[in-house]
Amino acid sequence: MSVLVTGGAGYIGSHVARLLTESGTKVIVVDDLSTGIESRVSGLTSYRIDLAEPSAVAALEALMREHSVDSVIHLAALKRVGDSVENPEKYFNKNLGGQANLLLAMKSAGVKKLVFSSSAAAYGIPDVDLVSEEEAASPINPYGQTKLIGEWMAANAETAWGLRHVNLRYFNAAGAGWDDLADTQVLNLIPIVFEAINNKSKPKVYGSDYNTPDGSCIRDYVHVLDLAQAHIKALDYLEQDKREFNTFNVGTGFGSSVIEVLEQIRETTAINFEYEVVERRAGDPARLIANASRIEKIMGWKAKNSLVEIIDSAWKALS
Ligand code: UFG
Repeated sequence: MSVLVTGGAGYIGSHVARLLTESGTKVIVVDDLSTGIESRVSGLTSYRIDLAEPSAVAALEALMREHSVDSVIHLAALKRVGDSVENPEKYFNKNLGGQANLLLAMKSAGVKKLVFSSSAAAYGIPDVDLVSEEEAASPINPYGQTKLIGEWMAANAETAWGLRHVNLRYFNAAGAGWDDLADTQVLNLIPIVFEAINNKSKPKVYGSDYNTPDGSCIRDYVHVLDLAQAHIKALDYLEQDKREFNTFNVGTGFGSSVIEVLEQIRETTAINFEYEVVERRAGDPARLIANASRIEKIMGWKAKNSLVEIIDSAWKALS
């Protein structure tokens, strides 16, 4: 028996793969290595496959049979919001085409358990302080749309051929569980600020005129190791015959503003850098914080790490 982790050489996927391996589960990794890094999965059985290629269906089916794959954790996807607005076809091709191929292979190989890596981007700009899974999903960019449609694809497979699935809607993943698995792409606030510090430039705050206590945007930062742990809980949940829900937020229920993140980074690094407030970035909700009560009640998952541990671990991994 083994678990297939797609995108297992990526930042989040490699944390999931390592946590599973350390708990004694056999892990098979599939990654196209477009953003994944091979050294993150050294020692694991891994295959370089682009899920969106037509040949992927047969290759996946064969490896599922060969390794007696019992469940799939599907993280392989493109994730740059701005890029998705400029190149929507690429996102539909890679994210949805890739997932369709994966589901075809799972159906043929008789693999009936899926944990799907979804996103809070599926909500769009919700008009509530804490977003629960009951909130209408209304994504505002192609990236978020592919995540919501991915949830629908899994739901349809559940109806059609009995796939059991869980959608994990990630909030803002950050930090490092192991130094060698750090987030090396500079796409999100914390890595962007670290890079600015290293370059001795001023990090930018996108807007300080939001309706929040300090005027900057608030997000729910969740430690990547806690996030990885949620996948293990989700696999356990899929073993239950009676499952009330498919979709779960993975966040802490606690928000931090951009300025609070910068202040914590100053404290952790002991570098007294300055920052610059610039115009708002298009499409940013003022606050996006999870109501994380469902996953705690149903799966017994709760984030253990706070913003301090997130920033400490991310900085240590880069130093
Ligand atoms: N920000 C800045 N300066 C920067 C970079 C970001 O002020 O240089 C701000 C953003 O405006 C936002 C916050 O920091 O308010 C966090 O921004 P990120 O780009 O790190 O993350 P987002 O909240 O925009 O998006 C993240 C993921 C998406 C996912 C979304 C779901 O990157 O993939 O969370 O909530 F869809």
